[in-house]
Amino acid sequence: MASGDGTKLDAVVFGATGFTGKYTVIELAKLAKEKGNIKWGVAGRNKEKLEKLLADLSEKTGADLKKIPVLVADVSDEASLKEMAASTLLVINCVGPYRFYGEAVVKACVAEGCHHVDVSGEPQYMERMQLNYHDAAKEKGVYVVSACGFDSIPADLGTVFLTKNFQGDVNSVETYLEWRMKKNVSGPSIHFGTFESAVFGLANARELRPLREKLFPKRLPQMLPKQKPRWLVHKSSVVGKWCLPFPGSDRSVVMRSQRHFFEQDKQRPVQAQAYVAFHSLLAVVGVVLVGGVIGVLSRSNLGRKLLLKYPGFFTGGMVSHEGPSEELMENTEFSLMVRGEGWQEKLAEPTDQHSEPPNKTMTVKVKGTNPGYGATCTMLVMSALTILKEADKMPGRGGVYPPGAAFANTSLVEELDKHGVTFQVSAS
Ligand SMILES: NC(=O)c1ccc[n+]([C@@H]2O[C@H](COP(=O)([O-])OP(=O)(O)OC[C@H]3O[C@@H](n4cnc5c(N)ncnc54)[C@H](OP(=O)(O)O)[C@@H]3O)[C@@H](O)[C@H]2O)c1
Repeated sequence: MASGDGTKLDAVVFGATGFTGKYTVIELAKLAKEKGNIKWGVAGRNKEKLEKLLADLSEKTGADLKKIPVLVADVSDEASLKEMAASTLLVINCVGPYRFYGEAVVKACVAEGCHHVDVSGEPQYMERMQLNYHDAAKEKGVYVVSACGFDSIPADLGTVFLTKNFQGDVNSVETYLEWRMKKNVSGPSIHFGTFESAVFGLANARELRPLREKLFPKRLPQMLPKQKPRWLVHKSSVVGKWCLPFPGSDRSVVMRSQRHFFEQDKQRPVQAQAYVAFHSLLAVVGVVLVGGVIGVLSRSNLGRKLLLKYPGFFTGGMVSHEGPSEELMENTEFSLMVRGEGWQEKLAEPTDQHSEPPNKTMTVKVKGTNPGYGATCTMLVMSALTILKEADKMPGRGGVYPPGAAFANTSLVEELDKHGVTFQVSAS
């Protein structure tokens, strides 16, 4: 691994003491050993807590992590963030909600010429970072890549993977997220940190329109036929299940990558919609009701206070401060079907319109285990290592990118395939 002048660490996990941070440290320790020659450290606001984490994880994993460098940095202390960024080539940022804590870290990383990856699923934060730091990051030769977890690598790189394999023009994709338990394990499945980020994302959804008008003053050309969103509830023939629109960041991230491919690489932009599938209509009704209540409450101060004080009550026990048990996480499998529609023939120009209706479909399946904290941490750490090793295959000489745009020409998909997150053409 290239370490600049040799005095810097290759990567630092910031927020290592958090729920996601802890599993990221375990994954980085494993992959650093596998890849060899990677110097890494942990960072956070509490030195004793970080040292205890390393001692606990040494015991848990059997690897001696007690000598791993510990850096103290607090989001509210700019100098400490700059010191952290100056001591490493890349920061793996696990401190969320990113709308509150993310910008200061990105700013310090860009100022110190240090790459940055995170697992944000918050479109407002990600698009704001692109608006405010893309040019500065480019100038510094630094890559800032968000959404490097379950939100939204499967959807974004799944769309890239489908487009590469399609051999023709892709007009649109629909993604369908499903999960299942290998065996029945009860208990919460989401840690409070993710819920908190989602509540504030929902509360501030209205920020997106003005933000996008600034970030993308020119509209993408309308490709025909225009993809229409499905009804609120629909039964999908792709997964044979009842589906709802997926409220996460997938669509926003995929569309940012598609805009990049159109503007920078002169590729036809793919239209996209994202859905989530449920095993029964009754489950869909339950989710609509719970989602409706959370959506309404998230809009007022009092409502947000109630949601964050009683997360278990408002989510039917899905969210807790302790997070999911390891047994539950290891028994949770996910798959994301990416169904593309288009033409066998490829037209010369990206904005040329086909005169015939679409005549080809292809489905790609992305799957893995433990989406929130297993596959997510693998994707996050692999993204970091890809920047360190394959920056020459990434766009330009730096900038703020979604993962599809950032990693389309790297070996990330092949590496993920070897590490439990697989991408396969399942039907054509
Ligand atoms: N995209 C995905 O698929 C995905 C999956 C999982 C998680 N996430 C996201 O990851 C983020 C973290 O979630 P989580 O559940 O891991 O949260 P968490 O357990 O609450 O962890 C938060 C971390 O931030 C640290 N922190 C808080 N304030 C800080 C400050 N002022 N300075 C420095 N560090 C500070 C905490 O340090 P202390 O320990 O000292 O309090 C802790 O290490 C959330 O935004 C969540 O949405 C995304």
